[in-house]
Amino acid sequence: MSARRRISPAELRSRLWFDNPDNPGMTALYLERYLNYGLTGEELRSGKPIIGIAQTGSDLAPCNRHHIDLAERVRDGITAAGGLALEFPCHPIQETGKRPTAALDRNLAYLSLVEVLYGYPLDGVVLLTGCDKTTPACLMAAATVDIPAIALNVGPMLNGWMDGTRTGSGTIIWSARERHAAGDIDFQQFMDIVGSSAPSNGHCNTMGTASTMNALAEALGMSLPGQAAIPAPYRERGQMAYLTGKSIVEMVWEDIKPSDILTREAFENAIVACSAIGGSTNAPIHLNAIAKHVGVPLDCDDWERVGFDVPLLVNMQPAGEYLGEEYFRAGGLPAVMAELIAAGRIHENALTANGATMGENCRGKHSWDRDVIRPYAEPLRERAGFLHLKGTLFDSAIMKTSVISNEFAQRYLQNPDDPMAFEGRAVVFDGPEDYHHRIDDPALGIDEESILIMRGAGPLGYPGAAEVVNMQPPGALIRRGVRALPCIGDGRQSGTSASPSILNASPEAAAGGGLALLESGDRIRIDLNKRSADILLAPEELARRREALAAKGGFPYPPSQTPWQEIQRGIVDQLSEGMVLKPATKYQRIATT
Ligand code: FES
Ligand code: MG
Repeated sequence: MSARRRISPAELRSRLWFDNPDNPGMTALYLERYLNYGLTGEELRSGKPIIGIAQTGSDLAPCNRHHIDLAERVRDGITAAGGLALEFPCHPIQETGKRPTAALDRNLAYLSLVEVLYGYPLDGVVLLTGCDKTTPACLMAAATVDIPAIALNVGPMLNGWMDGTRTGSGTIIWSARERHAAGDIDFQQFMDIVGSSAPSNGHCNTMGTASTMNALAEALGMSLPGQAAIPAPYRERGQMAYLTGKSIVEMVWEDIKPSDILTREAFENAIVACSAIGGSTNAPIHLNAIAKHVGVPLDCDDWERVGFDVPLLVNMQPAGEYLGEEYFRAGGLPAVMAELIAAGRIHENALTANGATMGENCRGKHSWDRDVIRPYAEPLRERAGFLHLKGTLFDSAIMKTSVISNEFAQRYLQNPDDPMAFEGRAVVFDGPEDYHHRIDDPALGIDEESILIMRGAGPLGYPGAAEVVNMQPPGALIRRGVRALPCIGDGRQSGTSASPSILNASPEAAAGGGLALLESGDRIRIDLNKRSADILLAPEELARRREALAAKGGFPYPPSQTPWQEIQRGIVDQLSEGMVLKPATKYQRIATT
């Protein structure tokens, strides 16, 4: 642990508001209204760090709602360490409740949190993270503003159970949907099974986007070690909230800012961790976005180069079988990092929120259950990271290899003449509504040779980019035992899905990507060895179609329904670029520059 210079009370940012000798008139104005609910002038002017608690929980955001209670323990920790806590609400983002898609709101929550952190008298902030988009929105804002910041996850729900079987968030919906489509269960049974997966407060209990992004916040060093995996209702969660509150005060005195933690090495650590935990396909989007806001170069090639050959160590749904409680008891992320450190895969010197390095925090930790967190030498799967594909279909798309099932691999990837490559006939859907209307239409002729295409689902086509690429085959095919077809799309997919889809295709159809040129019946070739994805048409035919598309004014998409949809469509980047608001990325470290 290197010795850092400690700042003095006179250097606290909040003094510009409450104790500014150069502008006593404004100081009085700033101060007086914070007195009106019982704070004293002495508290606000006595050189205590003022710490924001960014509250993402509410009745509208049930995944994060437990933060309403946890914030009290955060406050206790801040007070115990000599700080003063000011809690404030963040724009709610409930993954499962927001129409048309919660991802639309990530950048809106980011923007509003930037304004709060920049514009109010805060010396540091505790980011209350959890549900999918809340974690990246908070980290992106902290990266832009660059005041000391620490993340506290709300924690996963307890394990879901039904008839003696674990029912994991999201993942159970995909499998129960298949059973319902196949006629094995009726609608009420479907509803009961899905409901059983949400037995307590907290976020998804699978390694979906919430568990992934909070594990990666920890792998980046932006939270205390061991905090991400603690289930929401466990006593350790409240204790961790208290310790997090204490830590942020210390971070302010040590002036540990996001830009000190979010280095290139930290991002590479997070990519390696993402493969080992079997993390969500949303992670590259969000991490690339955080990197852009802190000014670290990072792209999807880095994800494959740094992460593809990392083995899958965590046996958790959707890539494995267990859920959040087993993962926590087995040691959570520190146990995973310890395996990766021993294998030489981690930059041990990366700084973390407690002032220690990643190596100091995690070296020597170990798994308490080697079925849940495997040793590096005995993984669930070798080379479990993302592949980065390119070709005439798109410039960039990723494929999560940790969820390729044996059934899928046997059908598509084991042709002795051409292993790891397959061809098929495209069946094209323009957005999720088109898919739902037509998937069971026999006229489409969908069979084992078909590749399902979802387009019009990217940041422009479906504002925010919908999680719809993992498409279920038609019921008739499922009843014949074909449970998955290859899917390709310019939208996203839920982190809880076990579909090895090719997704986040950029540029999307609505931005003129190759998917816009496809017609149902075209042949497509995917070669995972060559990392290629191509339309098997002559260049002249592709050029002809591109001209015809331009003559029509480009790929059509539906009008915006809200002001924000229109504003974001005007300035948003593609999924491969983190779906950031392009003008926002030039604002870096704004609290200090
Ligand atoms: Fe909120 Fe999964 S829906 S964490
Ligand atoms: Mg989701």
